[in-house]
Amino acid sequence: MDLSKLVVEDAARGSFRVHRSAMISEEICALERERIFDRCWLYVGHDSEIPKPGDFRRRTVAERPLVLIRGRDGRVRVFYNTCPHRGAMVARQDKGNADTLTCFYHGWSFNSQGELIAVPEQAGYSTQFSKADHALGTPPHVDSYRGMHFVNFSIDAPSLADWLGEAKTIMDLSLDAADVLGGWEIIRGSAKYDIRANWKLMAENSVDGYHLPTVHQTYLSYIAQRHKMAGAARINTNAVYKASRSFAIANGHGGITVGMPGRPIASPSPFWTEEAIAEVGRIRERLLERFGAERGAEMADNSRLMIIFPNLAFQDTHSGFRFRQWWPKGPGLMEINQWELVPREENEEIHAYRQELSLAFLGPGGFATPDDVEALESCQTGFKAREFEWSDVSRGMHRQPQQSDDEIQMRSFWRQWHAMLQGHARAAHFDDPATPVAALAEERK
Ligand SMILES: [Fe+2]
Repeated sequence: MDLSKLVVEDAARGSFRVHRSAMISEEICALERERIFDRCWLYVGHDSEIPKPGDFRRRTVAERPLVLIRGRDGRVRVFYNTCPHRGAMVARQDKGNADTLTCFYHGWSFNSQGELIAVPEQAGYSTQFSKADHALGTPPHVDSYRGMHFVNFSIDAPSLADWLGEAKTIMDLSLDAADVLGGWEIIRGSAKYDIRANWKLMAENSVDGYHLPTVHQTYLSYIAQRHKMAGAARINTNAVYKASRSFAIANGHGGITVGMPGRPIASPSPFWTEEAIAEVGRIRERLLERFGAERGAEMADNSRLMIIFPNLAFQDTHSGFRFRQWWPKGPGLMEINQWELVPREENEEIHAYRQELSLAFLGPGGFATPDDVEALESCQTGFKAREFEWSDVSRGMHRQPQQSDDEIQMRSFWRQWHAMLQGHARAAHFDDPATPVAALAEERK
């Protein structure tokens, strides 16, 4: 297989194509495991999930069983969930609080810092045997960014800060915004479901503005109907569109920012009481005061949907803030995990509104997710027409700035994917090089 021909771009013609074998080939799926998932920084979990010493979460990351745990010393660590003795998992529940993790096979016991503290019948080992040599293992690189914990299984990984790069600037807008309300916390419960489609379709879909009016027609008309019943003005979709952009970031990250007049933190919703409307106005004022007019307005008045390459969506939207992660289980099947975040000190009514909209839109039984699942599975079925080889990801290549229904964020993803699949650390470029078509559009202005 010639890997170099899986993504073909021609800036002069404004064309960007992805070979569909990328979606169905077992061979490519195996390469992705080795060259992408074993080399990228991967999200494990959030500080707020393990607030107290001894709190732990079990996670599977790139097929490795892991435990995210807060030690007695308050520090968060990530361990391989395998007993150094013979391999059984030391954490047998998905979450909990434990002073010690005890392997149920032979009873070796570890404290929350991963140190081996007890071995039944230790006299059976030689005098050279030292507990210090048998601590729980840790992935080669573990780091966090503002409460988000990541691992990297590659020895020669870039630093997490370098890897995230400019994505940090976008993340900071959301992370700083919640500081005026006590910071974000992940709320109880998460969603987990499978989609019979290639994982890269979810990377695309999570930042796809183009499919909104078609796939999510039901949701959009539901919202319009609710506005109408409340006697509120229709959302000015044209104004939203004009205030929205897609963007690309080095290392395969990218997304869209949506100027959203309906965003709870920014503007009154017709479903709220006067009190809630006033509260949102006050929060907006606090943001402007604390972060300045420009940055404060950017925080308050926009939604941000971004993918952190390769498999994390960071979605701070008018319908809630969530992390969504997806894992390949073969070329035609993926597992999705979703967690909701809320500001700790949010007013109850706004909190309820946020959760209701989130469930209504992106919950697995909401208006949006089942429609997305149908679309993605339909693509995967379409790929079985093997003789039809190419998908098109060229939308907006000829224009600047990129509109929110353009695809520069997906091209950033695909360029990084293509580079890594061929064994490179990063793509030669992540955004669209200036094209003659773009120059032409400039001249017409
Ligand atoms: Fe969608």
